[in-house]
Amino acid sequence: MLIQSFKNLPLLPNDPIFAVNARFRADQRAQKVNLGIGVGLNDVGALPVMEAVHEAEVFLAQERVPRGYLPMAGSDRYATLTQSLVFGEVLPEIQSRVTSIQTVGGTGGLTIASHFARRALGARVGSVSNPTWGNHLTILQDAGLEVDRYPYFSRETKTLTVDAMVAHLKALPEQSLVVLHASCHNPTGMDLDDEGFNQVVEVLLQKNHIPLFDMAYQGWGLGVEEDARRVREYAKTGHPLIVAASNSKNFSLYGERVASLHVVCPSEKEAPIVRSHLLRFVRGIYSNPPTHGALVVETVLASPELTASWRTELESYRLRVAQMRQAFVTKGRALGFELKNVDQQIGLFALTDLTSEQIEALARDYGVYGVPNGRLCLAGLNEHNLDYVMDAFKGILHP
Ligand code: LMR
Repeated sequence: MLIQSFKNLPLLPNDPIFAVNARFRADQRAQKVNLGIGVGLNDVGALPVMEAVHEAEVFLAQERVPRGYLPMAGSDRYATLTQSLVFGEVLPEIQSRVTSIQTVGGTGGLTIASHFARRALGARVGSVSNPTWGNHLTILQDAGLEVDRYPYFSRETKTLTVDAMVAHLKALPEQSLVVLHASCHNPTGMDLDDEGFNQVVEVLLQKNHIPLFDMAYQGWGLGVEEDARRVREYAKTGHPLIVAASNSKNFSLYGERVASLHVVCPSEKEAPIVRSHLLRFVRGIYSNPPTHGALVVETVLASPELTASWRTELESYRLRVAQMRQAFVTKGRALGFELKNVDQQIGLFALTDLTSEQIEALARDYGVYGVPNGRLCLAGLNEHNLDYVMDAFKGILHP
């Protein structure tokens, strides 16, 4: 019987993003280019160790900081410092009502938040944008939520479908969990404008939905403060919200799995109670988060000099990718193809019209790797590989 159960297990499909990464690594061609996974490569195609991060690590190595278990909530110092990064000038208004913990990456934060919404707050439905980062679906489903997708973007018109989104959110059961991308929407690179965001806030409040902001790209879109503005605007309404904020991309600390989760409660009274529920899920899922990444981030954020250096470097990365986006569009036009709306998107990603077959041909014939849904991570472009990539596109689009 047991042997049969093993034999009956279906093979599950690979994760589309990590599968691309694995193929890229295995590719032996010198000219290969990774436009797949969302990581912030630098102007020579390398994954940078930021200067402030390096200085913090040298300092920590000299201090010989012991690595005992962190509490279930992780480092309090890290949680407090990231509160300021996320909520900025709005923090004093909500500080007594917010409870914050360190999590195992943004995925860890989204997971704990989804469990909290489902099991503690009783949400039945979890709604994500269509399209969205594929892992959102898995995270919500595994937390026991019924996964729903609200319309967000039309591939035909290349515009956001705000009216349809609002109507959809209105029709959901009260108190559904609604995942919003704080900035740099993944994969479209298109965020709601002021009017659209206000309409969405109105329906979220009307229907008592639970907003869960996924903030994975703070600093990569319009700037560190600007990228947090939707979260801050929502916090100003005085209503509860949840934010999962990753430091993978903005500190270039992907493998350290360092992120924070913030739950803004209706009043001060609920904060410790909410916290007790978060910690109950943390204990059952991963017990407590790892030490190193949080130590690095808090060392940077506690030092005005290191923070200034970090901000300057992050800003230079942001501007570099924005320049690459422009160059990609301009050169594409010069070669006679139109990548519609790519220059209106922000952040690391461009969602193109390339079909999965064309993406496959790029990988097979040129070693240029994108995600099968047409998403390209523009941080993989640089002055050395841009012409090669454009030739590859030309080869695919005009065979
Ligand atoms: C991405 O979308 O490529 C990143 O968020 C990395 C990941 O975990 O998928």
